[in-house]
Parts: sequence; structure tokens; C-alpha cells
Amino acid sequence: MRIAMIGTGYVGLVSGACFSEFGVDVVCVDKDAGKIEGLKRGEVPIYEPGLEDLVAKNAEAGRLSFTTDLAEAVEGADAVFIAVGTPSRRGDGHADLTYVYDAAKEIAGALKDYAVIVTKSTVPVGTGREVERIIREARPDAEFDVVSNPEFLREGSAIEDFMRPDRVVIGATGERAQEVMRALYRPLYLIETPIVFTSLETSELIKYAANSFLAVKITFINEMADLCEKVGADVHDVARGIGLDGRIGKKFLHPGPGYGGSCFPKDSLALVKTAQDSNSPVRIVETVVDINDKRKKAMAERIVAACGGSVEGKTIGILGVTFKPNTDDMRDAPSLDIIPALQAAGATVRAYDPEGMEEAAEMLKGVTWCDEPYAAMEGADALAVVTEWNLFRALDFDRMKELLARPVVVDLRNIYDPRQMADAGFTYSCIGRPAAAS
Ligand SMILES: NC(=O)c1ccc[n+]([C@@H]2O[C@H](COP(=O)([O-])OP(=O)(O)OC[C@H]3O[C@@H](n4cnc5c(N)ncnc54)[C@H](O)[C@@H]3O)[C@@H](O)[C@H]2O)c1
Repeated sequence: MRIAMIGTGYVGLVSGACFSEFGVDVVCVDKDAGKIEGLKRGEVPIYEPGLEDLVAKNAEAGRLSFTTDLAEAVEGADAVFIAVGTPSRRGDGHADLTYVYDAAKEIAGALKDYAVIVTKSTVPVGTGREVERIIREARPDAEFDVVSNPEFLREGSAIEDFMRPDRVVIGATGERAQEVMRALYRPLYLIETPIVFTSLETSELIKYAANSFLAVKITFINEMADLCEKVGADVHDVARGIGLDGRIGKKFLHPGPGYGGSCFPKDSLALVKTAQDSNSPVRIVETVVDINDKRKKAMAERIVAACGGSVEGKTIGILGVTFKPNTDDMRDAPSLDIIPALQAAGATVRAYDPEGMEEAAEMLKGVTWCDEPYAAMEGADALAVVTEWNLFRALDFDRMKELLARPVVVDLRNIYDPRQMADAGFTYSCIGRPAAAS
């Protein structure tokens, strides 16, 4: 089988590499010539564990190649995946479908034989039908079907998520298109992955419903954490106590500074907009979007409070700036709210992140970027853990105390034990857990 992957970003590159690992011939296309040139030399433009090896192995085997020439990739492909970005549209929060529709037009021009056009990008209900209309209008003669196949991988564990997903969702009603999709996902059938076949519209909605539900779950535990702080309870015990109930489940019950990343914020907002437009508002998601925005902003206030109510003229050390560990993705990361708020309040910021600093330096100005975690603490009046990279869990407390001007640690990810921190002489605050008396 042969596929073209239009868009070689986090999703396109991972999906393309994984399909090639399944034995499919994959041509990845991107408009960004620099990215494609780099990939041809074996340079993977994103940080995703295991991806470099997977790309190298399959490129060497001749199953994975890269081009900027969309027409060349589409010719002879059994399926053409659209994996371009669908960011929030400026001003109104709807998904911006410009890249998807532009790709559809380009694909239309390149179609020769029958192909399945697959939207892998996260797209609102109705987009697949519009892609169908665009291609049909441009090429009334073309033989094709449009299918929705949303992607559920998580950055940081993307390869494992693609290779061993909880399920695959395919919005395709025609037998011919279903056959192609079944053949592509055959290796997952063999490991008994549930494959959910639905209509185009249902499949499109499943992706938004899934991400919005997870956003609700995270926000729920974040609000429980705030309540725990007020009443002297421990949110981790609450999470365990409810999560062991099979109806609730243990995952996504870790409190923190609010969800960020390339998916939850834009997808929950886009669902809100679709629902409002359809006269069927999802008020629970509207509320969650609002709470989460405010929460990210409020995190800077926690750091200010830990510094005695003012950070004017003070230095704050920051550990982690990416939206989560094991990625270099900075999109909608809480650090993008926290760091500018601290700077606006008069603080100087020193920061370290294992993979995200290059990207972050473009978005966060006036930060002193450090080349290792301890350097971020030098002379700081407080240290804030913003992203829970494993590396930060095992830092040397004595060295930290020596480097910090004041032994104040604000842990927005709860990676340290309050008892140990108190015993080590830190003034420690975290999310939803009582501070231990020193
Ligand atoms: N990142 C994730 O974790 C994740 C997970 C699930 C779903 N998704 C969804 O997948 C889609 C892609 O997300 P991403 O994070 O991979 O985006 P991305 O921004 O990393 O990559 C998109 C790529 O598409 C390229 N592109 C745009 N228009 C093109 C065109 N006409 N021809 C060729 N290339 C083109 C861009 O240059 C870019 O490299 C989005 O809809 C997103 O919501 C993302």
C-alpha cells in the first residue's frame, strides 16, 4: 500500500513514520522546504522520544520519504492523509480550516486514480463534507471518498500511542473506503485494537468530545485541589479515592497549573463554538475553558504570594517551560502566561527546559536561558517548577539551597514530597496538598 501524508508536523511525521513501520510506503509532504531538506538528511525537526530512530530506520528501508511536491506524493497513493494544522482562528476561537481547505484544493489538482482522502487533522463537524465538495467541484471526474480518521496520540508518547492505541476511529460509510482503511490499520486489527466505524460527522465529533471530556476531567481535579487547600485535604488522596472507582478512572486526575498544549485549549474552544452555532451549547465545556484560562493566569499570583506579596526587583527561577514533559512543544504552555506576568510584576526570570528553550526563546523575551537546571536557581528569590520533566525530580536539595538566595520552592506539578521539602529547610508550596510543618 502507498500513502501520502500532507503536513509533516507532530502528527503527520509520527503517523507517517508509524505507517511505514507497519510496512506501508509513505511519502510525507510539507510546504516548509527547510523541514523537508532536514528530514532528507535525517534531521527530525521536533523532539519526540523514539522518533529519530523510527524515521531513520524506515527511510533507510526505502518505505519513508519526504518531499515538497504534493502532486508527486499523491500520484499512485491509495490514501492521502491531511495532517495540517487547525489552530484557533484569531478573534473568534473557531478552528481555522484554511490549511485543510488549501490542501484539499491541491490534492484535487493532483488526483489521478481512485484514492481515499483522509482528514487526520482535528476538524469540526462538516469539514469532511466541505473537503468532499471542494474536490468534487474542482475535479468532477475524480474517483475518491473522503474519510475522517482523527488522531489521539499524545506528544511525548506519540509512537506508543499510535502503535498501541485504545481505539481507532474511522468515519467512513462506503465499502471501498472502509476496505482501504482496514488494510492500512491491519497490524492494529491483529493486536485486537477496537476499530470504531462511524459516519464522517460522528467521527469528527468524537475527537472534540474526547479532548473536551479530558479537559473537563483535568479542570475538575484542579478545582478540587483549590478546595483541598481551603479545607486542609489532600488532592492526591481525593484523586486516588475517586479514581479507583472504575466509572471514574485514575487517569487525568493530576492537579496542575491548567491544561495547555496544541490540542486541549483550541479543541475545547472550537467545540464550544460549534455547539453555540448549532444552538446546542455545551455549557460545561464553556465553563471549563473560562476556568482554565483564569487558572493559568492565577499561577503567577501563587509565585508572587510565595515571595511575600511582591516580586518587584526579585529573581525567579523557572524549571520547565514546555506544556508538558518529553516534548519541545510550547503551544499554549502555562509558562506563556506565568513568565510574562512575573516580568510585568517586576521580576527577572531565569529559566531552564531540557528541550523547549529554542522555541520558547522566540515567544518569551527578556528571560535568561540557562544551560542546566541549577543555573536557573542562582541567586533566585524563589524557584517555580512549571513542567514536570523527570530530571527535576531528583535534584540535589543541598545544592539547590546553596544556590537560591531564599529557599522558596513553588511546585506547580507536585513533583516533590512536602515532608521532605520541609525537612530540607525549604518554604514549599504546591497544589492541593497541605504544606508540612518544618
Ligand atoms: N500535536 C498533537 O499532539 C496532536 C494530536 C492529535 C491531533 N492533532 C491535530 O493534528 C493536526 C496537525 O497538528 P500538528 O501538531 O501536527 O501541527 P503542526 O503545526 O506541527 O504541523 C502541521 C504541518 O503542516 C504543514 N502544512 C500546512 N499546510 C500544508 C500544505 N498545504 N501542504 C503541505 N504541508 C502543509 C505545515 O508546514 C506544518 O509543518 C491538527 O489538526 C491537530 O489538532 C494534533
